[in-house]
Amino acid sequence: MKNKKISVIGLGKLGSPMVASFAAKGFNVIGVDTNLDSIHLINKGMAPVFEPQLNEYLHANHKRISATDNYNTAIANSEISFIIVPTPSDKEGAFSLKYVLEVGKHIGGALRKKSDFHLVVLTSTVLPGATEKELLPVLEFHSGKRCGRDFGICYNPEFVALGSVIKDIFKPNFILIGESDPDSGEILTSFYKTICENNPPIARMNFVNAELTKISVNTYVTTKISYANMLAEICEHLPGANIDIVTSALGLDPRIGPKYLKGALGYGGPCFPRDNIAFAYLAHRLGTTAMLAETTNLLNKRQVPRLLKLIKSKLSPKGKVGILGLAYKPNTDVVEESEGIGLARSLIAEEIPVMAYDPAAMKNAKKVLNASIIFTSSLKECIQQVDIVVITVPWKEFKNIQPEQLARPNNKPLIVIDCWRILDHKRYKEVVDYVPIGIGS
Ligand SMILES: NC(=O)c1ccc[n+]([C@@H]2O[C@H](COP(=O)([O-])OP(=O)(O)OC[C@H]3O[C@@H](n4cnc5c(N)ncnc54)[C@H](O)[C@@H]3O)[C@@H](O)[C@H]2O)c1
Repeated sequence: MKNKKISVIGLGKLGSPMVASFAAKGFNVIGVDTNLDSIHLINKGMAPVFEPQLNEYLHANHKRISATDNYNTAIANSEISFIIVPTPSDKEGAFSLKYVLEVGKHIGGALRKKSDFHLVVLTSTVLPGATEKELLPVLEFHSGKRCGRDFGICYNPEFVALGSVIKDIFKPNFILIGESDPDSGEILTSFYKTICENNPPIARMNFVNAELTKISVNTYVTTKISYANMLAEICEHLPGANIDIVTSALGLDPRIGPKYLKGALGYGGPCFPRDNIAFAYLAHRLGTTAMLAETTNLLNKRQVPRLLKLIKSKLSPKGKVGILGLAYKPNTDVVEESEGIGLARSLIAEEIPVMAYDPAAMKNAKKVLNASIIFTSSLKECIQQVDIVVITVPWKEFKNIQPEQLARPNNKPLIVIDCWRILDHKRYKEVVDYVPIGIGS
């Protein structure tokens, strides 16, 4: 398997780590993108996107990596091609196949000139029906070849989390494969046996079941997150209740499990919110409803207003608020659908002065927030100038804040709203007015 050559189409947040990880396992990998800057960086062994370990992996394996904008070169010189281009949500909530089908045309054209069998793997998130009804006909039309005979297709979505993509590629919880034919599924299965370090279960099925499974996983996880958030809100109104105590016991039940059961802020990022909406859209398209997905979405949208209400109840007139955390989670610079950004927007709308700091996402946050917010260059600078600090992301840097950093020279203590309960309240209660989310007073 290791002498197989791989191409990866789309060198973004997922595609670049895939290139690096596959090369680290000994494969020769050709990356393809329309963005010449990404191609240039990959060819120099440098990361085109922010992702922990990516630079190191690209650099260490650059002998086996090349990047180009030429599909013919990539397809002619590889046996398996992964498509990992954007599938942006349209206004109804469905995933647009614009980029996937554009790539399909190019791959089809390149396959026309190739006599060997080629495996096309669609990794981008799509809705049920997309692989068989949309990509397959485009590939057959432009190649003049037959799927299952001259080339194969697998739908193989990723379940990685930004911030730990490389680790998750090597140690996935499971591998999901929708296959056009058993041989194609077998090729991809053998490939993953070389890539994965943890011998994960591999679920093989037809396209439509794999497509449905992909968004079902994300919808289920968001339901769990929202359940814990709902519970946290109840705890806040119940004297003596503590969300951490309740969820740590809940998680002991193997039918529930401890993961994603924190009770903090809403979920964000480029996948969870839109996958949930797409799931509800799919149900409507099929003439039914996905009430749980719709309610989960509503619960998620409730988290920032809930936090805003709490902040306003504590803030003195003309008081300033500092937001610690603008990325949608730690270890990423992505701010899409981030709760910190949502909170900043809500505070600005209420004309409350806002300062903000994030260890990695300042550049991206500046692009989406207007000038009414002050971005500080350090954690210290943010803390010193505000009346309330809200910890919206459990970054390691914030967990390491020392009590003396929060102490005020005057008698008025700083109010710290800790959405993730990352500070040990016993160490901080002497110096600040500590307000954890999810704890009944
Ligand atoms: N980011 C995640 O956490 C994550 C997780 C699971 C699934 N996904 C899915 O993976 C897909 C890609 O996501 P991403 O976050 O890597 O996107 P991204 O926007 O970070 O990167 C996409 C890349 O594709 C390139 N591209 C666009 N059109 C192209 C074309 N015609 N030919 C070649 N390259 C082209 C872009 O230039 C860009 O570099 C989406 O469907 C997304 O839903 C993402």
